[in-house]
Amino acid sequence: MDFPIDAWYDAIFLRHSQRKYSGKVPNDEVTRRIEEVCAEFRPFSGARAVLVKEPANDVFKGAVGPYVLRVTEAPYYIAFVANMNAPNIQAITGYLGEGVILEATSLGLNTCWVGGFFRRNAVLKQIDLHDDERVLAITPVGYSKQKLDRVGGSSKRYRRKSLDRLIVSGELDDNKWIETALEAVRIAPSAANRQPWRFQISNDSVTVLANSRREGLGVSRKLDCGIAMLHLELGALTAGSKGSWEFLQYPGVARYKVS
Ligand SMILES: Cc1cc2nc3c(=O)[nH]c(=O)nc-3n(C[C@H](O)[C@H](O)[C@H](O)COP(=O)(O)O)c2cc1C
Repeated sequence: MDFPIDAWYDAIFLRHSQRKYSGKVPNDEVTRRIEEVCAEFRPFSGARAVLVKEPANDVFKGAVGPYVLRVTEAPYYIAFVANMNAPNIQAITGYLGEGVILEATSLGLNTCWVGGFFRRNAVLKQIDLHDDERVLAITPVGYSKQKLDRVGGSSKRYRRKSLDRLIVSGELDDNKWIETALEAVRIAPSAANRQPWRFQISNDSVTVLANSRREGLGVSRKLDCGIAMLHLELGALTAGSKGSWEFLQYPGVARYKVS
């Protein structure tokens, strides 16, 4: 499936995590589109997204970890399923999941990545997994409870690191595509907003690095970096720079090189 570049790039700036839902069920057309994206967006092999058209109340019951709010009243949720034997699976799952989330956002739906703090057993009652698969994260899908906090209506400010703290080598040098790409990454979501991505830049490439190997919060930093990869690519494509990804060994995650 080709990206709807403009719609997903715009969605980057509309998305924010929503935890309180109204219970309203998306109509058939919206539901079909989400199902379509879950089935068709498979940019790398090893990960898949499954829409569960049942309330997620049991799944979100209990522990919230460091998060203040628990997710409530979501009519649907999506599970991001990973084949744990596939190479680079954490980054691949982040990239795939964020594509589905940006599509949901562009349809006017709210979402929230939930990595460590959900009940896996409750999910396993609602979806089938193969032996080597694991649910790495889920997202509720629905409409915000508060009208003013719907997609695009948020007055929340992004709390994010500045670019100069994220770039570990190379200079921006007025390089428009890299600037657009990194601004799109800067506001990407990450577990507990830890923003573990770092960048090495050159004229024709950006290398994404993870700032630690640790799996804090039960969520790999490489999963966050996979989310960042999709934002980076959407920014690059929006600025007219088409390229491709090469996966790397730690501390590298992947390099985007323009063709
Ligand atoms: C991989 C991942 C896991 C997350 N896990 C949780 C979670 O378990 N519970 C939660 O409430 N929020 C979770 N979040 C949401 C982050 O806290 C949120 O994205 C971050 O604070 C930035 O806020 P924003 O999404 O509104 O821009 C997660 C986000 C990511 C990317």
